[in-house]
Amino acid sequence: MNFQLTEEHLAVQEAAREFAKTELLPGVIERDSEAKFPKEQVQKMGELGFMGMMVDPAYNGGGMDTISYVLAMEELSKIDASASVSMSVNNSLVCWGLEKYGTEAQKEKYLKRLASGEVIGAFCLSEPEAGSDATSQRTEAKRDGEFYILNGTKNWITNGSTASVYLVIAQTDASKGHKGISCFIVEKGWEGFVIGKKEDKLGIRGSDTHSLMFTDVKVPAENRIGDEGFGFTYAMETLNGGRIGIAAQALGIAAGAYELALAYSKERKAFGKPISQHQAIQFKLADMATQIEAARMLVYKAAWLKDQGQDYAHASAMAKLYASEVAMNVTVEAVQVHGGYGYVKEYHVERLMRDAKITQIYEGTSEIQRIVISRGVLK
Ligand code: CAA
Repeated sequence: MNFQLTEEHLAVQEAAREFAKTELLPGVIERDSEAKFPKEQVQKMGELGFMGMMVDPAYNGGGMDTISYVLAMEELSKIDASASVSMSVNNSLVCWGLEKYGTEAQKEKYLKRLASGEVIGAFCLSEPEAGSDATSQRTEAKRDGEFYILNGTKNWITNGSTASVYLVIAQTDASKGHKGISCFIVEKGWEGFVIGKKEDKLGIRGSDTHSLMFTDVKVPAENRIGDEGFGFTYAMETLNGGRIGIAAQALGIAAGAYELALAYSKERKAFGKPISQHQAIQFKLADMATQIEAARMLVYKAAWLKDQGQDYAHASAMAKLYASEVAMNVTVEAVQVHGGYGYVKEYHVERLMRDAKITQIYEGTSEIQRIVISRGVLK
């Protein structure tokens, strides 16, 4: 048992912290207000190696471990969760599966550009009637010679209009249930592929969330990832890792709000002394710090299990379930510590509170995490 981060981990953490302060913090309030995607910032994240952190350097990745990835996610999410979700989707939901299950040609053509951040990717599972119930896919891909003809609609797709490469889950044989689902690589600009409306969201407002429509889109058969029928397992395995990234995002949102509340409590005076000297505030800070530390341990443990090649499905669900609840609790308390100032945009904590909510919803709601965990417990 060793709770010490290595020199390399500390360097990654420091680089991410510095980047978040110098590149993400300026303009974060305006991007939130205007629902503006942090395009230049995400491009710089690619240049610094944040968009393909765990990918083999042979495919332009950083060759780092999952612990490094969660450390970077935490630091970036303290400041800008809209930028960090783009990073998380690209790393965990797009690059990971392409590297693990893609053909050499797919890796050459797509993974190299995704891992370097030259382009970004999107993962398209959710549909208007298939969110939590992911097996109920309506999007279908019918084989036609050397192509599949893709038809359907996807909803709530992160990086929806900014991505260039889309991993699309679709039904290839409805009679086989979840064993008749496959995954395809689709490029932006292909005939019949239309990017639909942008969602106007409560939080992560800078993140680019869209519906997508596919009408008779011709997808080359060579763009299927893995065998026909492997798509559902592919999506589930992908989400096992994705949930570690979102858990780290939730941890970062909580830690960011806590750091702001701590600093504020030392400056703000009431009844003749800094509010940090009042027990009502001290108890809040103590609870926040304890919850964050417990969430951090679950996040690191899930990342460590993945790095060790051990089963991490349940650990990642636990980390996401707990860290997202902590993000919600802590951000609400951070607003409370700030009093009236916490309710206005300038002090950042109201944004973090709004951003926290999505971590209990995407990549599986808290209820889905409980299903995954209870299945592990009852096994
Ligand atoms: N890991 C690996 N395989 C898994 C798995 C997991 N966590 N969960 C299920 N599977 C496999 C099962 O082993 C089974 O395979 P076999 O038939 O070969 O044994 C198969 O998948 C079907 O499993 P179930 O019968 O358990 O399926 P189910 O219909 O009961 O539901 C579920 C499973 C866990 C509820 C699943 O549907 C689920 O995770 N739903 C939530 C989907 C989700 O997280 N969506 C988020 C969208 S992505 C997103 O938000 C991205 C973004 O933009 C930020």
